Amino acid sequence: MKKIISRLLLLVFLSLPFSRSIYADQLTQSKPRVVILATGGTIAGSAASATQASYRPGVLSISQIIASVPDIEKLADLKGIQISNIASQDMEERIWLELWKSIDHLFSNDLCDGVVITHGTDTMEETAYFLNLTVRHTKPVVLTGAMRAATSLSADGPFNLYNAVALASNPISANRGVMVVMNDYIFSANDVTKTHTVNSDAFSAPGFGAMGYMRDGAPQFYRENSNTHTSSSVFDINGVKSLPVTEIVYAYAFSSAVAINAIIDSNAKGIVIAGVGHGNYNKEISKAIERGLSRGVAIVRSSRVAEGGVDLAAENYDIKAPVSFNKNPQKARILLMLALTRTKDCAEIQRIFAEY
Ligand code: SIN
Repeated sequence: MKKIISRLLLLVFLSLPFSRSIYADQLTQSKPRVVILATGGTIAGSAASATQASYRPGVLSISQIIASVPDIEKLADLKGIQISNIASQDMEERIWLELWKSIDHLFSNDLCDGVVITHGTDTMEETAYFLNLTVRHTKPVVLTGAMRAATSLSADGPFNLYNAVALASNPISANRGVMVVMNDYIFSANDVTKTHTVNSDAFSAPGFGAMGYMRDGAPQFYRENSNTHTSSSVFDINGVKSLPVTEIVYAYAFSSAVAINAIIDSNAKGIVIAGVGHGNYNKEISKAIERGLSRGVAIVRSSRVAEGGVDLAAENYDIKAPVSFNKNPQKARILLMLALTRTKDCAEIQRIFAEY
């Protein structure tokens, strides 16, 4: 009941009150206006002691998190909105759509200059990439989180949040696509991925490197996000209630076709293969791919290998299945879901993967 009431209040909050008058009370024009959309994660996590590894994610509210960051109010006029308070392994499509809707509303009505999203680190790269493809605005959107709970000795969340607000409130951050800030590094949503399960230096962009670095509350950019993103993206999800179901199949030594065949027989519209090496798989999977393609399921070849991607130079079989280029399987899945909102044609899907 409590959950339903808070969801209703949030909906009312997001659909009605982002008028200039409400914001004018709280957000002055003298400092940049940054809205923090909180979703949960370790940054909102709490443990029984400051040194233990186990903790509960998604406990602290966004006001408690903001209050724990010294000097953050000097960077920007801040407003925190609690979208959810979950561990990010429980991320839902509904929350993605709600984040998109909130950001679109804030930017379309000029209600803030930048958005920060606090998020669990486990699926942060996926939310970031989804927004990178769908938020059709140039203002900065920055995701951040933490590897250590808020109650931990040397918690990393407060500085990550400070950096994220500093990045989102700086005009030079505009039109760079959605970014992730962790451990002082600025990453593009396009190529960032979680590469360590527990260390506070948990994110990297294999084959690309960070976009830049945060120092003294200022971004230092080294490179651009060269793929099409945000304001140039064609993916329009306004009014979309759900995205085409798309699954991932992992390949490995003597993998069976049980999983892929079950997916083909479900209501899935797309499948990404996390292939071995250069997006390869065995003959069993190959036969199942033929079957899936003949039944109109879109199939994209990606790789379980961290670096190098999959290009068009196929080692064998299924040239018909498009390749993901430098997108890892979890990002290829998001791009395929969005591509399927526009086309089922393999050649067009391949072109989309080359562009985004
Ligand atoms: C989560 O993704 O919510 C848990 C892990 C984390 O935030 O680091």
